[in-house]
Amino acid sequence: MIKISVANQKGGVGKTTIVFHLAHVWAGQGKKVLCVDMDPQGNLSSSFCPEGIPEKSLVSAVFRKKKPEVMRTESGIYLAASDISLSIHEKDLSLKNYFCLKSWLDSVKDFDVVLIDTPPSLGLFTVNALTAANFVIAPVDVSIYAIRALTDLQNSLKELSGVAKSPKLLGVVLSSFTKFHRSSRAIQEHLNEEYKKLLFSTVIPNSTKVKEALIMGVPVWKIKGDVSRVEKCFRTLSREVLKRIEKKKGGR
Ligand SMILES: Nc1ncnc2c1ncn2[C@@H]1O[C@H](COP(=O)(O)OP(=O)(O)OP(=O)(O)O)[C@@H](O)[C@H]1O
Ligand SMILES: [Mg+2]
Repeated sequence: MIKISVANQKGGVGKTTIVFHLAHVWAGQGKKVLCVDMDPQGNLSSSFCPEGIPEKSLVSAVFRKKKPEVMRTESGIYLAASDISLSIHEKDLSLKNYFCLKSWLDSVKDFDVVLIDTPPSLGLFTVNALTAANFVIAPVDVSIYAIRALTDLQNSLKELSGVAKSPKLLGVVLSSFTKFHRSSRAIQEHLNEEYKKLLFSTVIPNSTKVKEALIMGVPVWKIKGDVSRVEKCFRTLSREVLKRIEKKKGGR
């Protein structure tokens, strides 16, 4: 079972969008996919279930040593959901609380892929997402703040490795990219220089269709209009991710 956390403490860089689309790509290929929403904003959960979430499916149960009952969404993707009620657990930063999600996910066996969405912070929920995962994907948008936040994420992974088996940073993905903007190209060049090995060659372009899709709770390829370029990027990213995982597993 592959467990991937998508993290960057900078907000709005595309974490939820990437989790949502990778989940749909892999589910469409017949994989059994579980999404875990570790963000009290609940954006991923509301994209999957705009009509609301049954309390028994809330992932917050793990902080009470209970197991959430994952729900099968309309898309066939399974979800351990979140809403604002998760935030009451945020303050208890004791070490034992770092592993609540991991304890539960270690007991969950029947999925091919688990994708964990994280909030824009390096607090308890992201720490839980990191200790529970084998791999991390870090999205960045075209801002210098998102790149600085990468350093914080890498430092957190280093710190975590002192107390737990920390996950491998699989790569950095540039999202919401507009090639016509000089500043965007400058950020891309910077990433190419500083994160050469980590940077995925797939870049997710900025597209209003992506925004629309998330609001409608469907992947971008279900939206009317020409979305083939964006669709292709999510699919290429999914292949790149699996390729890197295979490489890491093979120790190469
Ligand atoms: N490729 C894209 N093109 C255009 N808009 C995008 C793209 N990716 C994401 N967005 C939009 O940008 C906003 C932020 O994206 P998203 O919610 O995925 O980021 P996030 O990192 O999960 O944010 P947060 O840190 O608040 O959880 C959303 O409105 C989303 O629809
Ligand atoms: Mg999000």
